[in-house]
Amino acid sequence: MHELPVIDVSALVDGSGISTVAAEIDAACRDTGFFYVTGHGVPAELQERIDRLAREFFALPGDEKARVAMRHGGRAWRGWFPLEGELTSGVPDEKEGFYFGEELSADDARVRARLPLHGANLFPERPSGLRDAVLEYMTAVTDVGHALLRAISVGLGLDDAWFDRHLTAAPTVLFRVFRYPPLDEPTNGEAEGKVKWSVGEHTDYGLITILAQDDVAGLEVRSRDGWVAAPPIADAFVVNLGDMLERMTGGVYRSTPHRVRNTSARERYSFPLFLDPAWDAEVLPVPHVASGDAVSGDGHTPDDENDRWDGVSVHDWSGTYGDYLLAKVSKVFPALSDDVIV
Ligand code: OGA
Ligand code: NI
Repeated sequence: MHELPVIDVSALVDGSGISTVAAEIDAACRDTGFFYVTGHGVPAELQERIDRLAREFFALPGDEKARVAMRHGGRAWRGWFPLEGELTSGVPDEKEGFYFGEELSADDARVRARLPLHGANLFPERPSGLRDAVLEYMTAVTDVGHALLRAISVGLGLDDAWFDRHLTAAPTVLFRVFRYPPLDEPTNGEAEGKVKWSVGEHTDYGLITILAQDDVAGLEVRSRDGWVAAPPIADAFVVNLGDMLERMTGGVYRSTPHRVRNTSARERYSFPLFLDPAWDAEVLPVPHVASGDAVSGDGHTPDDENDRWDGVSVHDWSGTYGDYLLAKVSKVFPALSDDVIV
């Protein structure tokens, strides 16, 4: 049975030492591409607050939630979507959610240039504390993400400011809150030929995802030995790598497929934050890494696009990160993309 590693990153976060943490993260990235981090310094009070406020929001009547529905967010791609509103792998997910991103004002150059996914958040009137909690949480967890990227660059044999210089001085940051109701018995769905998923199998698109989950299990990760569970661990975030890190490393690091099935009798909440390259960044292979020079032990070859969840290879593609992200999100929200990508 494959277990995901738990890495204490307190020395990284408080600045007292990077090399041990970097080596542990490097090993995890070469193996499953999923690990837990503890000692991250994000206050428990903030996590409890956002969890409580999220539950209050999702418990509101549908017509009140619809006032902040994604169609009101326009190009910024923010707001609430109902159960089965998002299609991962072409199938509606059994989840309800809220999309947030960096809070940009109308006079920001990127908003004035009408870049998709850039703009102001939609915040509901109730619960009133949600706005502050979301913005505080995004700042705190983005800081953890930058620290993790410093360790990742050291693990790749680069200097610790490499990501800041090349990709993440103005990162794309997306934050989502999800509510997963209990699924019906999965065997019933199978018998009827329609298996339901809380989230279908997919990879994440950018650099790293930092996920807080409540105490209900359901996240599953496709390791080399098959599917393994990533159950909740108190005070730990789950961290996984996105397609851009797989691309940068020529497949030495893995953007690992994962999925969610809430087969428990309770609802599950999760809070993923995606720390991704700047919108206009071109993400290229890092020569000494992608060529295999830095591979210790079992380097593996880039995967075959036929093997990937959506049939698109991360290696065989060119353009900016913004282009890549937009192509992905328009698949999972087909109706919205018509309004936004014009
Ligand atoms: C995602 C994701 C997992 C979860 O949002 O990309 O994989 O537990 N979420 O919500
Ligand atoms: Ni994911």
